[in-house]
Amino acid sequence: MKLTAWLSLGAISVASASQWPVGVPSQSQRISPPSRPLQWGDINVIATTDTHGWLLGHQKQSFPEPNYSGTWGDYAAFVNHMRELAVEKDVDLLLVDSGDLHDGTGLTDGFPPGGVDARDSNEFFKQIPYDVLAIGNHELYIYANTLDMHTNFAQHFKGRYLSSNVNITVFDANNQSVSVPVGSRFRKFQTRKGRSVTAFGILFDWTGNDVNTTIQTVEDMVEEPWFADAIADAPDVFLLVGHMPVARDRWPVVFEAIRKVHPTTPILIFGGHSHIRDCLQLDGRSMSLASGRYMETLGWMSVDLSSGGTDNLTFSRRYLDANRVTYQFHTNRADRTFDTPEGRNITQGLLELEERFGLTYQYGVAPQDYTMTRSPYPSNGSILTLIMEKAVPTVLALNTTRAGIPSIVITNSGSQRFDIYKGPFTRNDELTASPFVNTFLYIPDVPFAAATAVLPALNDAGAERLWPGEGEAVEESRQERVWRQERAVEAGYAAWLADMHQRYHTQPSAAAQELTPGYVTSDACPGLGDDTPHAPLPAYRLPDFIASPTPAPTEAVDLVFVDFMEAQLIRTLNEVQTERVYSLADAGVYSPVLTNEVLGIYAQVAWN
Ligand SMILES: *[C@@H]1O[C@H](CO)[C@@H](O)[C@H](O)[C@H]1NC(C)=O
Ligand SMILES: *[C@@H]1O[C@H](CO)[C@@H](O)[C@H](O)[C@H]1NC(C)=O
Ligand SMILES: *[C@@H]1O[C@H](CO)[C@@H](O)[C@H](O)[C@H]1NC(C)=O
Ligand SMILES: *[C@@H]1O[C@H](CO)[C@@H](O)[C@H](O)[C@H]1NC(C)=O
Ligand SMILES: *[C@@H]1O[C@H](CO)[C@@H](O)[C@H](O)[C@H]1NC(C)=O
Ligand SMILES: *[C@@H]1O[C@H](CO)[C@@H](O)[C@H](O)[C@H]1NC(C)=O
Ligand SMILES: *[C@@H]1O[C@H](CO)[C@@H](O)[C@H](O)[C@H]1NC(C)=O
Ligand SMILES: *[C@@H]1O[C@H](CO)[C@@H](O)[C@H](O)[C@H]1NC(C)=O
Ligand SMILES: [Zn+2]
Ligand SMILES: [Zn+2]
Repeated sequence: MKLTAWLSLGAISVASASQWPVGVPSQSQRISPPSRPLQWGDINVIATTDTHGWLLGHQKQSFPEPNYSGTWGDYAAFVNHMRELAVEKDVDLLLVDSGDLHDGTGLTDGFPPGGVDARDSNEFFKQIPYDVLAIGNHELYIYANTLDMHTNFAQHFKGRYLSSNVNITVFDANNQSVSVPVGSRFRKFQTRKGRSVTAFGILFDWTGNDVNTTIQTVEDMVEEPWFADAIADAPDVFLLVGHMPVARDRWPVVFEAIRKVHPTTPILIFGGHSHIRDCLQLDGRSMSLASGRYMETLGWMSVDLSSGGTDNLTFSRRYLDANRVTYQFHTNRADRTFDTPEGRNITQGLLELEERFGLTYQYGVAPQDYTMTRSPYPSNGSILTLIMEKAVPTVLALNTTRAGIPSIVITNSGSQRFDIYKGPFTRNDELTASPFVNTFLYIPDVPFAAATAVLPALNDAGAERLWPGEGEAVEESRQERVWRQERAVEAGYAAWLADMHQRYHTQPSAAAQELTPGYVTSDACPGLGDDTPHAPLPAYRLPDFIASPTPAPTEAVDLVFVDFMEAQLIRTLNEVQTERVYSLADAGVYSPVLTNEVLGIYAQVAWN
């Protein structure tokens, strides 16, 4: 079973994005290399997080995708050269990952029946010599995925894959059910330069995990005797890698537990899950970094330990755009001296995997970009407008016995996950943009006035009312908990984009016109974080629910909707009219086409 089949996630809207009606800066093909060399220290760390299957990088030509076009093979070559540089400079270089390897592209999710999500793509993860990796919540949605991380991934990384507060229940040699850490609880090791490191891999407090996986709260974890033992001796540095936002979460709980015992030992923190670039310092001898999402960003942190004593340490941090220009700039390599046999082999292997999964199958050619939040809804450039005004009406008309009967189709805006860019539209693009599997249901003969009142009423109430349980004491379902978590991530990411856009346009810089679009990070750490200066992308707010164009006034219409939102739709329909009481029994299946198939069928029909 795939996550998306079970989850039917839908309705993640970027509810907190603000509306900034400002155009995209000019899209000239300027080369924008990094602005300055990296600052190296005694210990240096390259950090990835929330890769979610983007191991072939961002392959589209529209801005800003080329800036994240480095493949996992390019990254491997970068790592290789950086390790050589570290030896030359006689310093330490560590590699960490903060989790969420599953769910995001066809390389993880496009596996044939009987497969396991991310098992094949993880073979390429294994080829990077990570020092510490932490488990993410997306490793825990489906037991089979967690089991694969336990029996396969963790075995490969031998003590480097950390799940300090996450267990899995398995059968032991005597076929007894036992709960054991998915990876290891902690790792103590020596760096190449002989420095001692004590590392943990921690997941935020969360309850959306599958049965036979266990997440211990961070508060409980720091009370464990094993934790006290692990931190008893002072290492040269503590390395806290975890799937938890660096701001506003439980890092201070872990930090304080360590500080109680070791008031001045350096603590390096690498978070994740929030999908944003972020940095803060919990004190002058610690730094916390989050390195974005989807292989758009590599995080860099360096620290000089030589200052000893109790003074503030000298840290640096940088957010690198994940592309070959960046990689070559920082390793002083030309295009022809950059590649390594291992890197080429990795990229080649990923391209073969893409073929094997049928991901390059081309449905059609998208005539332009359609984005989630960069164009307002409704507008030509909005993927939601494309879906509701073109794709859904076209595809359903071809695939329903109700063709010709006036209809209004309603769905939730979170039914799409990612943008579509001009150019070939493939199976992989379909899986990336529209992964959620839902059925189109309909109620026939709904009075026109009632049917047209439903969408505004839904949006007035918002998607928070998606769930049943109004007036009843229904316990939050696991699906609901997962939905809330994913919605929070999307909303936080959208708020981050809106914030950078607002800041930028209230203080326009003279250089603005010269910059290519991308992330413009403002965090709580000293100095500039972004490696390559950019102008921010526009960010528009989305409604929670969207509908197909309203037909000409008529007596009654088919009210069509996705099953994901059936409870709220029926409640709302019963609020906007009182002639009769509708129930799910009034609804039937409108079409054999599922929501995740719409774009592929549409592209075949309209983009060929
Ligand atoms: C960002 O993308 C543009 C457009 O393709 C490209 O010209 C530029 O080199 C990229 N920047 C980097 C740092 O690769
Ligand atoms: C998982 O949990 C179910 C009950 O919820 C149990 O029947 C099953 O044996 C468990 N599987 C393992 C591997 O422990
Ligand atoms: C182990 O026990 C489970 C039930 O607890 C059973 O379904 C399974 O067949 C057993 N496996 C073996 C190898 O005995
Ligand atoms: C995790 O597994 C360990 C080792 O079996 C066990 O001692 C511990 O109680 C488990 N923790 C949780 C929260 O289930
Ligand atoms: C040390 O760092 C802390 C936290 O970043 C900061 O508040 C404090 O002012 C710094 N102290 C000195 C002497 O720079
Ligand atoms: C090449 O990649 C394959 C996986 O695609 C891997 O099994 C093999 O070890 C790699 N070989 C080298 C020399 O890196
Ligand atoms: C929207 O599409 C129409 C028809 O293709 C075109 O004429 C119009 O310029 C487009 N508007 C925008 C804002 O792109
Ligand atoms: C929908 O209709 C198209 C065009 O007639 C057809 O190719 C496709 O197989 C249909 N899909 C389903 C799921 O019925
Ligand atoms: Zn994530
Ligand atoms: Zn996550």
